[in-house]
Amino acid sequence: MATHKLLLLPGDGIGPEVMGEVEKIVSWLSKEGVASFETERDLVGGAAYDTHGKSISDETMRLADAADAVLFGAVGGAKWASVPYEHRPEAGLLRLRKDLGLFANLRPAICYPALASASSLKPELVEGLDIVIVRELTGGVYFGEPKEIVTLENGEKRAVDTQLYTTGEIDRIARVAFDLARKRRNKVSSAEKHNVMKSGVLWKEVVTRVHAQDFSDVTLEHVLADNCAMQLVRYPKQYDVIVCDNLFGDILSDVAAMLTGSLGMLPSASLGAEDPQTGKRKALYEPVHGSAPDIAGRGLANPIAMIGSLAMCLRYSFGLIEAADRLEAAITEALASGSRTKDIASEGANAVSTSEMGDAIVAALGRG
Ligand code: NAI
Ligand code: MG
Repeated sequence: MATHKLLLLPGDGIGPEVMGEVEKIVSWLSKEGVASFETERDLVGGAAYDTHGKSISDETMRLADAADAVLFGAVGGAKWASVPYEHRPEAGLLRLRKDLGLFANLRPAICYPALASASSLKPELVEGLDIVIVRELTGGVYFGEPKEIVTLENGEKRAVDTQLYTTGEIDRIARVAFDLARKRRNKVSSAEKHNVMKSGVLWKEVVTRVHAQDFSDVTLEHVLADNCAMQLVRYPKQYDVIVCDNLFGDILSDVAAMLTGSLGMLPSASLGAEDPQTGKRKALYEPVHGSAPDIAGRGLANPIAMIGSLAMCLRYSFGLIEAADRLEAAITEALASGSRTKDIASEGANAVSTSEMGDAIVAALGRG
């Protein structure tokens, strides 16, 4: 059995609490012989700043580079509000994304049956919802140059951001989306605005070419990004994989995420390029939520976003599809049997602690 090298970076606030529940699952999977892991744990964010004077050390970066996957908790908190800008806790995460070349951000929106009534949409619209937004993460208008505010001769100011994509950048994100769709329901919806943007014209052209060349078995549709936002709220179950640029992905993934309820439920993956020799890709998995200082240290955090991130890691980095399915089924079962942390419990109902939620999922795994 292959041994998978996993680097755990719990971070700050509730990060260590939710990571603790992931460690229970990792131990269970190892003990039961489902998979073999070599795990290391290190500091990131404010915790690293307190120890090393920077939010991620070079040694941690070396470990991240050598690992098959990184599991990241969350960073930040008021304690580090006045540290120098380049050492703020978030800088550790940004360095990881940049240095590992993590250009593809995958954000699933899954609606667990037991929580359908917690959505802002009617339960029948979201029950069984399982879609993924694939967002390009390292290009587009957030990074394109020129990017500036200049003062004009007449005293007015002018701001400019540049939406910029190359064929290579679009090609590689399209491939991630098509590959992913093949492991799911085989459909990709590419969202852009070719009707008003040159980058949209190129986006559509490259996605169409990649599809024709290598993925003609996958269903491809093109959708205007604004229409996509509307469709996500009207009838989200029409989608499987949605691929889009950095800006549209930022917005569409927040819309999709919120269809399903609490921030404490949402996992994510950030993937790099495939190594042509080994076929492996750099990857970091993290919950969408932050360090939640308001509830940290009190056993109130929902560990499902973090545990769901481990399930994505098993699926996308380690090819442990059965184990990933089983873990996701265990989350569903724990919820169905009534375990709820406070963020997803109904008003006045009994809530379980972070650790009890983790235990309920491990117990469901054992029955699975
Ligand atoms: P947040 O996501 O930490 O919290 C927002 C609200 O959701 C809070 O009321 C919190 O209690 C709740 N919440 C979040 N995760 C939860 C969970 N697992 N279970 C139950 N409730 C949960 O966002 P906020 O408050 O804006 O930021 C707090 C800190 O986290 C800041 O320092 C911010 O910079 C940092 N942050 C870090 C991120 C990361 O590490 N990737 C992402 C977002 C924020
Ligand atoms: Mg956002």
